[in-house]
Amino acid sequence: MIVCSCNVFSDRQVLDALAGTPLRSPSEVYRCLGCSPQCGRCARTIRTLMDQVQAHDCGACADECPVAGLTGMVAAE
Ligand code: FES
Repeated sequence: MIVCSCNVFSDRQVLDALAGTPLRSPSEVYRCLGCSPQCGRCARTIRTLMDQVQAHDCGACADECPVAGLTGMVAAE
């Protein structure tokens, strides 16, 4: 799913940027993806993805990893 239509990046790209990287704000995500906010409409979705990743405890990842379903969770909002 495209998260940012101005910079054309997807939720998968955001999740990849967040994987193993302690990004603390949407602006850091933009920077990590080599762009900057334009209209800002996507900032809330990026924050939601960040919150979901932060809430996820990877200590017990297996076949039913909740992060794998984040794309669908955000799309349902
Ligand atoms: S939709 Fe992301 S900056 Fe406009």
